[in-house]
This record gives sequence, C-alpha cells and structure tokens, in this order.
Amino acid sequence: MMQKKRVRLTLLINLFVYCCFSGIAYSQTQTIPLETKHHALVLQVSDQQDVRISYLGRRLNRVAEYKSIPDTYKQSTDYTGLLNSAYTPSGSRNLMEPAISVTHADGNQSLDLRYVSHEIQQLEDGISLLKIALKDPVYPFEVTLFYKAYFKDDVVEQWSEIKHDERGAVTLHKFASANLHLKASAYWLRQYYGDWAREMQPEEEKLTHGIKVLDSKLGTRANLFQPPVFMVSLDRPATEHEGEVLLGSLQWSGNFRTDLELDPQNNLRIISGINNYASDYSLEKGEVFTTPVFMYTFSAQGKGLASRNLHNWARDYKLLDGHGQRLTLLNNWEATYFDFNEEKLKALLKDTKKLGVDLFLLDDGWFANKYPRNGDTAGLGDWEENRSKLPNGIGTLVKEASANGVKFGIWIEPEMVNPKSELYETHPDWVIKQPKRDEYYFRNQLVLDLSNPDVQDFVFGVVDDLFTENPDLAYIKWDCNAVIYNAYSAHLDNQSHLYIEYVRGLYKVLERVRAKYPTVPMMLCSGGGGRVDYAALQYFTEYWPSDNTDPMERIFIQWENSYFYPAIASANHVTDWGKQPIKFRTDVAMMGKLGFDIVIDHLNDNDLAFCQQAVKTYNGIKGTIWHGDQYRLTHPRENSVASMLFVDKAKEKGVLFNYLVNNRYDEGSHLPIKLDGLDPERNYRISEINLYPGTSSPIAGEQVYSGDFLMKIGFNPQVRKARESVILQLEAE
Ligand code: GLA
Repeated sequence: MMQKKRVRLTLLINLFVYCCFSGIAYSQTQTIPLETKHHALVLQVSDQQDVRISYLGRRLNRVAEYKSIPDTYKQSTDYTGLLNSAYTPSGSRNLMEPAISVTHADGNQSLDLRYVSHEIQQLEDGISLLKIALKDPVYPFEVTLFYKAYFKDDVVEQWSEIKHDERGAVTLHKFASANLHLKASAYWLRQYYGDWAREMQPEEEKLTHGIKVLDSKLGTRANLFQPPVFMVSLDRPATEHEGEVLLGSLQWSGNFRTDLELDPQNNLRIISGINNYASDYSLEKGEVFTTPVFMYTFSAQGKGLASRNLHNWARDYKLLDGHGQRLTLLNNWEATYFDFNEEKLKALLKDTKKLGVDLFLLDDGWFANKYPRNGDTAGLGDWEENRSKLPNGIGTLVKEASANGVKFGIWIEPEMVNPKSELYETHPDWVIKQPKRDEYYFRNQLVLDLSNPDVQDFVFGVVDDLFTENPDLAYIKWDCNAVIYNAYSAHLDNQSHLYIEYVRGLYKVLERVRAKYPTVPMMLCSGGGGRVDYAALQYFTEYWPSDNTDPMERIFIQWENSYFYPAIASANHVTDWGKQPIKFRTDVAMMGKLGFDIVIDHLNDNDLAFCQQAVKTYNGIKGTIWHGDQYRLTHPRENSVASMLFVDKAKEKGVLFNYLVNNRYDEGSHLPIKLDGLDPERNYRISEINLYPGTSSPIAGEQVYSGDFLMKIGFNPQVRKARESVILQLEAE
C-alpha cells in the first residue's frame, strides 16, 4: 500500500517537474506571455479553457504583472467573452469575423476550440516557439497555434496546424494563420495599392468600425493590385521615430486575405491568412493542414525602428544569402527588347566589361523555334535556344562572358505558356483554363498548372537543364507575368484546392532548385513587383520592385518597400525611363542592388565616364547599403527633398542619398537635415561622392562634425535645381 502511494507521489512530482521545465502547463487559469526584447504578446487561458489574447504591446518590466492586465472586453454574461479569442472559431459562441470556419464530416457547422496544453521550446539562441494545443469539446477536431518569437528583432511569426479524426473529410471554409487583438484609443492603417508600374502606392487612414479587408484573388502575380504588407499605428499615426506601430504581412505567394475588424468595443482584431475565396479545403481524417506564416514586428519607437528590425531579421533568417554579396549587372531588356542575335549579345558582353559591372543578364526572347519568341505573343514554354538568334546556343555566350571577365545570367518565366507554343500543343492539360469556356489571356499567356507534379518536374527541368548544360551560369531572373483567369485544373479532383496547390507546387519546385543550386543568385520578378513576400524571398536573393524605373517614381516605390524589405534585396536598374540626367538615375539605383539596362554605346563620353566611375564608387559603399542600418530622414511625400541614410553596423561609415522631388520655384534643402544612427561621440568627415565629370561640390569635404551635432543640428546637402541628386559619404575619424 505504502509502496503504491509513494510511486503515485513520485509520478506527481515528476509530472510537476516535467511541466515546469518543459513548459507544458495543466493548470486551470493561466497567463502565457511571449516576450521579445521590447514587445510582449500575452495569452490568457480562462476558467472555461478559452484562449484569449489579453495584450499585445510594450513589454512589462515584471513578468508577474501580465496576469493583472484587465480584460479589454465588457464583462457581461451576455458577452461570451470570446471576442478576443486567440483563434476565433465560428458557428458556436463567437459572432465576430472568424479565423476558422468549418463543416464537419456530419454536416454540422459549429466549432469551438478550448485549451488543452501549451509548450515553449527554445529553438536556438534568441528564438523560442510557443505551441498551444486547442480542441473542440464535441468533435475530434484540433488546432495547434504556433508563435515563433525572434527576441532581438521583436519579430513574431505565427501559424497554425489543423487536423481532425472525424469519420470523413471536414471542409475548411476559412483557415487563418493569425488572429491578433490590439487595444488602443484609435488605429491608423497604412496600406498599399498599385498596378503595373505603379507598385506600392501608400494610403494611410484612421480605421472605422467594421471590417477592412486587404486581399488578392489574382492567384499568381498576386500582389499586382495590393501587396500583403501593412502597418497599424496605435493611438496616433506613428512617425519614423515615434509611436506604437505594428508592421505585418503574410508569407504566401498567392491569394491572401487580411481582415482588420474594429469591433464595437474598440478592439482591433487582425485576422490574416490564405484567402478563402473559392478555396474551401477538404481536409481528410489524419491530414494536417499547415497554414502559411503571418509575421509581424511591433515597435514603440515608430516605423523606423520597426523597419530596421525587419531588415535585420530578414537578413538573418529569411532572405536567401542575406549577409552575402550581390552581383552588379548589365541587362539587355530595354536595350534590345526581343531584337538581338549572337553578335549583338557579344558586343553587350564587351559593354558589360567596359562598364565594370559583374554580370551580363540576357532577358526575354532567347528561346523557342517553331514559334520563335520575337515578341510576347509566342514561344513561352519552349525553352530551347532560338537557332536563328543563337545558332551556337547559350553555352557560347557563357564562355564568351568568361573570356571577357564577366559572368552570365539569364531570364526565364517557367510557370507560363503562350497558346502559340509547342508546349501548349503537346500538353494542353498542363494549362490552367476552363474546359468549356473561351480562353482569356493576360499578356497573351496562360499559367501552367503547378498543382500537377508533372508540371512541377517540367518547371524544375527548365532551371536544371540550363545549369546542367551551362554550369557557369551565374544568375537567374525568374519572371511571372500573368494572373490566373478561368481557374481550373485538369489534374485536381477538387477544384477549390487549386489556388493553394498552385503555391505549394511552386514552393516544391523552388525547394528542389535550392537543394541542387543552393547559392546561385536569383531575382524574383513578376511583371515588375507583383510577387515579393517573405516566403518567396527564402529562395531568392533579390526582387524587382517595379518595371517603372523612372528614378523619380523609383524614389517613392523604393521608399515604401524599404519599410518591409532590406535594400540588399532591392534590384534597381538604371534605364532610359524618366527625363533625369544619368547621375540622378544612377544615384537612385544605388540605394539597393545596382544594375544597368541602357545602351552603353549611346552614352556620350562624360556619361560613360560617369557610369564607370559610379560602379567603382558603388563597390566602395555597397557594403554599407546592403548590410548597414537604413534611416529615412525626410519623406518625399512630405518634403521637397527626400533623404535616405545608410550607416554601417560599426557606425564608422555612412552614405546619405538626397534628391529634389519637387521642381517648383526655390524648392530645395534650405535647412540642415538631421541625421540618425551615428555615434554621438565620434567625429565624422562629410564629403560628396559620385560627382558628374566636370562638376564640383560646394561641400568642402574638410569639415568634421560630431555625430551628436549631425543628429541634433544636421547637415545641409545643398540640394536644389542643378544639384538635384547629391550623395554624401560619412567617414568616422
Ligand atoms: C516583365 C519584366 C521585365 C522584362 C519582361 C520581359 O515585364 O518585369 O523586366 O523581363 O517581362 O518580357
């Protein structure tokens, strides 16, 4: 008897010790704080076993006080208390916008989710993972919520896993990744809209009651009209330095949906995930549905800090080769369009060398024979070299590039097909289109059905064949120019899975590409900037923000992108768009990864000399731009001068870009612009760089200022008409 009691006691103690040290908790009511350096997300388990978000905001000094945070909802028996659910189910007690909504195997549409257990794991230094298991009390239906916290960057990634043990399939009507709650007196949403050549147009407004939805239903090129990134400021619009602000986005390269619901009690509910539009998901017994990741960062010191946290996080954990190098390049798209041959390209390889950049990038138009790719109406899908343009193949060009001391890269758009192509003729069943309806095209093309493993093999093969035949190929520009019209897959039994399976298929291909070619740089392009997100950027070293390379427009587009993505990922090319002089165009392109897409032969002597010198100058400052901290000093929408500063991590070097963005009379920098991110104690020498041949700078370059002075008083770059673009270099003494 005594023996048995002792064993039971030992088991209980072991269980207690296990719970304490593994983080698994079994108590009735508890508070689960998830902390990063300055931020906390606090979950609470009620005595009803409901899991709620009781707080999202600045971290408290005392962990014990999280449990004293008052409920932000009115306490009344009429209110079920589920308004701030950490993952809002539908059809039972909750009557707000759901995070999840289902039809069970027996046709019942109610769902309730109660706490089962939770666990916190330390994944690696500075990264922890909180898992919360939830279960329906009536149905064998489970959801696990995941919160991955990146301590030093104040970033949280959130997703969920859904599974069941019912007798048949359960239909998921909505299946969000994240369900957050914020409490403030008012909320300001900064969102973006756009179109081709007009990406990242910002709008910021106070949220009113009801639901604001940010979404895409385009399937591919999903960000064309609206990207998934957004910001929410609490209490008042945040500035660069001040205010509480959350920057968030879904990591998913397809249809997304973010609901921002301001409820009657002034709580903001943010629900984000795959767009459930035409996407009911039939979940088989035992199958696990893993949602994509929603990520956010929270800053109590404005948008500037939030963006720098995201940049650091991206370079550390997301962007492929985030701490690596990038290749400067010469692209032939705008120089030749489809009109080139081997001879012309050989001349361009020489120009690449002459310019001093690392790589020549051959764009669209190099492939297809039966229906040659001489325009955008034919040939897409037929990835063998066009014999009349390139009789000796790509291989000769890759060798010729080597002989010229430059690298060679190539454009592909492997997910797409022109109806006028051999691929379409051979595999009409590989194409997304409605069998009984007229075909409808976007840029004269259709999208291949990546839900089909044969198509995945084909797309992987496009890349693999290029590298197998040309092992020295050094760069890929991966384009995606069409949206999905007439969504229908000849491969899938369940059509409502197509939008999801497409993206899963794309990631499978990219996984295979990266397993075999882990380091080759790849640019993510989508008819301009129609696709960038952090799921895709795990496979790409850079993205193309827009086909609009007019430098004035680019200042604005790059500016808004810079809140979410680091400059090292921004592929910026100098082209003939815009009327600005070559210096202005080059300076703007330098605020990221520099490339050129101009006819070198057409440059006059001074322009050519300037470009050659600019490439050398860029090689000296690119480390600071790619790996340093970025500070937006004066916003182009609010000032006549836009100023952007990059400071290296050691605070020894800085590069300050300044542009006149308003051409009216007497506009310019009449006053000093306050710098940021410097060491107040150190002295910095300021000089102007990247001057056009034959011009001189009014900035002496001998004066030295303390970081303290430059941050409190500032420095005038003397931007005005005739000095419309000024780059200053800071060097600590
Ligand atoms: C898209 C890209 C361009 C270029 C063309 C080629 O529009 O954004 O940069 O590559 O395709 O057809």
